Amino acid sequence: MATIGLRGVSKVFSGGSIALAQVDLDVADGELMVLVGPSGCGKSTLLRIIAGLEEPTAGTLYLDDEDATNFTPQQRQVAMVFQSFALYPHMTAADNIGFPLRVSGLPPEQRHELVVESATALGVHELLERWPKQMSGGQRQRVAMGRALVRDPRILLLDEPLSNLDSGLRSELRAEISSTVRSSGITTVYVTHDQTEALTLADRIAVMRGGSIEDVGTPGRVYDRPATIFVAAFLGTPRINLFEAWVWNTVDSHVSLRIGEQTIALPWQDPRARQLAHYHGERIIVGVRAEALVSLAEPLADCTIRGRVRYLEHHGHESLAFVDIGAAGIEIDLAPPPRTPPATKLKQLRQRPVTTMRGVWKRITGTQPAEPEDESDSELPAATAGRHQKRSSGLVMRLPPSVEVSAGNTLNIGVRRELLHFFDLRGDRIDAGFR
Ligand SMILES: Nc1ncnc2c1ncn2[C@@H]1O[C@H](COP(=O)(O)OP(=O)(O)OP(=O)(O)O)[C@@H](O)[C@H]1O
Ligand SMILES: [Mg+2]
Repeated sequence: MATIGLRGVSKVFSGGSIALAQVDLDVADGELMVLVGPSGCGKSTLLRIIAGLEEPTAGTLYLDDEDATNFTPQQRQVAMVFQSFALYPHMTAADNIGFPLRVSGLPPEQRHELVVESATALGVHELLERWPKQMSGGQRQRVAMGRALVRDPRILLLDEPLSNLDSGLRSELRAEISSTVRSSGITTVYVTHDQTEALTLADRIAVMRGGSIEDVGTPGRVYDRPATIFVAAFLGTPRINLFEAWVWNTVDSHVSLRIGEQTIALPWQDPRARQLAHYHGERIIVGVRAEALVSLAEPLADCTIRGRVRYLEHHGHESLAFVDIGAAGIEIDLAPPPRTPPATKLKQLRQRPVTTMRGVWKRITGTQPAEPEDESDSELPAATAGRHQKRSSGLVMRLPPSVEVSAGNTLNIGVRRELLHFFDLRGDRIDAGFR
């Protein structure tokens, strides 16, 4: 049994850099928790605080419900594998794996037995007499895992353990790590900035940004119901389409969402319509993933938008169509991360009315929000930075290879309304109570 609890954990480095701002997180016994977020968001710092390699500025760490904030790394019984998984170059694989056992004074015979057992489980038993320089990156990584697991730690911490490997080996080792960790039942915290790795590996994901956790949940939950616009944009490929929409209630019929010059209607029977109704006459952000869009031969009333294909990207099994729908998509700049004020200040900011949130909006999107009163211009300017500049041209959707479409064609795009996401101008999910 090993659980981890973090309560109000903050870390301010000398010089004032805020790495963590009041982080709360629980990891259940035997759970594989993945911390994911852009570079500099505080993932490694959080892991190092759990390991006892870094001291929190404020807050408490619980291990098995016991206050372990002041425990030494040894008392915590955690094992950590780092990104560089540095093996001792002057030791064979066997000696590397057995090193923690030697330090703890285990006799050579018992040591050998455990080393062979651990190496066999990780498929490196035939390499035990090799030196690190005689092994491939993947083999070295397995040996490093063996060294971490051989002591039977109660918690395993992995900091980007696959980032030095090529993509084929990454997915192979990812599957191996997943099965090793799950069969051992060890409570594990795994850090990555790769959202695919996070979604495929985790029991639960904690999405971090600027020293805070924005959302925690199963991969399915955070993907399907992201708590914030940032989480929605961080998870999933191609990236979620985000558009500003103007909300208008038609009593007893539907709620209209006007995107550019086009309208999607949400009938009153949809429970989310009641929550959106509170935004009558205001602007919100609508998120729509590529899988919620389908090309239709004929438009369907209330849930079809029209667009002109600007260009296509062929991926063999499917094509991505970049479509102009007469409204600029909103780009979330995911990297580099913003400087974050302390959580208390953030909280105060979040409580302010929407009309005074322009600064926060800018922080979230890297853009200036449009004036709510100014209905003539419903488009937000595209963000200035980010890796997906193309998206500012409009909407991206998947097309099966059988659909014959060329640049310049006009599409009727059916929108699966049940898969739409709604965010307020602060970037928080609107339909939080739904489902
Ligand atoms: N020793 C330090 N002194 C000062 N600032 C630090 C120190 N270590 C980390 N930081 C800062 O704290 C923030 C969080 O760093 P951290 O290493 O935890 O990020 P990360 O999410 O692991 O990023 P990456 O994905 O690049 O590894 C960063 O802004 C970083 O510059
Ligand atoms: Mg790191």
